[in-house]
Amino acid sequence: MIIAAIVAGGSGTRMGSGLPKQFMELENEPVIVRTVKAFLAHSAVDAVIIGVNPAYYDYAKSLPGLQNKRVYITKGGTDRNSTIENIISYSMSDLHCSDMDIVLSHDAVRPFVSVRMIDDSINALNGCDICTASIPETDTVAVADCDMNACAFPDRSTLYRIQTPQSFRIGTFLKVWSSLTPEEKAAATDVCSLYKVRGYPIRLIQGELTNIKLTYHEDMYFAQAIIKNKD
Ligand code: CTP
Repeated sequence: MIIAAIVAGGSGTRMGSGLPKQFMELENEPVIVRTVKAFLAHSAVDAVIIGVNPAYYDYAKSLPGLQNKRVYITKGGTDRNSTIENIISYSMSDLHCSDMDIVLSHDAVRPFVSVRMIDDSINALNGCDICTASIPETDTVAVADCDMNACAFPDRSTLYRIQTPQSFRIGTFLKVWSSLTPEEKAAATDVCSLYKVRGYPIRLIQGELTNIKLTYHEDMYFAQAIIKNKD
């Protein structure tokens, strides 16, 4: 089976809208509905499981755009990786998924994931244990010390911005997850960082500039421009 694991357990504090950003509307459609539809449009995706902020579980269940027999909703965890772990537990208990099944983990707030990126995320697993969408960094990046002095400028040609989807098989995730300490889990902001702790190579696949993560209010303007440009 191929499962899309949509992480929607956050509260969107940086967006500052009150309603978590995954439920905000973009051109009359909630962000999360756009994201889920993008995965449902791919014929290889058997199920979409959403891990939602527990305070919005009933709200998400009642959203008309999420009423689909391939869409399942469970509760998210206290951080992003715990939400993925909850989704994987749900996939095993309720959908009877097993070790070799593929998970495409994806931020609910990246509604512009393309069929090409989903294809590449699935195909890359023929040659690696985990892969992630990414794009080359275009800004000069500085490392700052605690006094806000730039103390290093890493070579930009080696820097990539990590996006999602991030894909892997359930078996390797469970092996990695069960081997890590609570501190190691807390320090990792995505699944790739978890695998990195255990020494797995992380394959980078090509992301897209339009595959933005809605984080700040201004990102909604960029998202509207992307939608208008696609129409
Ligand atoms: N996420 C999650 N479970 C959490 C925290 C975050 O599933 N406990 C999800 C978010 O819903 C989002 C994705 O991880 O789809 C990326 O996280 P981020 O952009 O940081 O979202 P928030 O945590 O909601 O935002 P903020 O940090 O501004 O509060």
